[in-house]
Amino acid sequence: MSAPGEPALPLQQLQSVLSPAGSAADTIASLSWGLFALMALIFIGVMALLAWAVSRRAGGQPVRPLRWIVGGGVVFPLVVLAGLFGASHWRTPGWLVPPPPGALIVGITAHLWWWEVRYRDPATGQDITLANELRLPVGRPVWLGLSSPDVIHSFWVPALAGKVDMVPGRVNHLLVQARQPGVYRGQCAEYCGDQHARMALHVVATPPAEFNAWLAAQARPAASPASPLLERGRQAFMAQRCNACHTVRGVAGESRLGPDLTHVGSRLYLGAGTLRNQPGAMAHWVSDVQALKPGARMPSSNDMDAGTLQALAAYLEHLQ
Ligand code: CUA
Repeated sequence: MSAPGEPALPLQQLQSVLSPAGSAADTIASLSWGLFALMALIFIGVMALLAWAVSRRAGGQPVRPLRWIVGGGVVFPLVVLAGLFGASHWRTPGWLVPPPPGALIVGITAHLWWWEVRYRDPATGQDITLANELRLPVGRPVWLGLSSPDVIHSFWVPALAGKVDMVPGRVNHLLVQARQPGVYRGQCAEYCGDQHARMALHVVATPPAEFNAWLAAQARPAASPASPLLERGRQAFMAQRCNACHTVRGVAGESRLGPDLTHVGSRLYLGAGTLRNQPGAMAHWVSDVQALKPGARMPSSNDMDAGTLQALAAYLEHLQ
């Protein structure tokens, strides 16, 4: 959700299991409501029995305590729990099968504390590496390969699907499918260190044609600086050694230590959900990372002179 004073994102949905916008999430939501209704009935029944027990007059018919203990304490829970296990098991098998034909395949790698997102460019077959934002076409199944090079993280976008851990040395899978356009917030769901809380991921579901145009744009190398200010920013990017960790395709390096910045200006957020990417945010982020996200693997560049910082920020913002 937006912080106070921030413009709301269009079509942003609640980060809630009870606001489903995809097929797997629909199943989870209906199971959750079914569970809630059943538990409410049992609670009411137990309370009614309790009221009956305390209001009984002494000297009435004997209650046969063993029958209540075995029936209510053993048989009834066994039947209810077995029924719930069956219901949840039979309703969820499809999530673990191989990707359906026509599925879009996306690789996601969780890092301390950001998300690397890889698509295959349908035009060239090359990988396109992006960060912190997963875009997908509405109505098409998307098969995610989830991994981690460092510690255990967990992928969780409640509006779309359940949680899947991202474990070093393994590739886990998750099938998601968005039913309607929207922005769905996700969050690392396994404690992974200082900035676990600021490890958010935004999923943007768009109509297929819009998605294809977006992917084609993301596949292109970075825009060339078109003004002296932007050129100064590009030079600052190299001089400040930003390229030691970040790639800007067509400009600098192939370092994968930090997020790929080729199209950073087009993202909704900076720092894995830390700051909305709006005017002024880039300069704030670059100069003050350690105040905004203490422990992030990037130093604050607060010793840069104001002119250089503004040029660098303008250059990064223009990488649309
Ligand atoms: Cu990554 Cu918690």
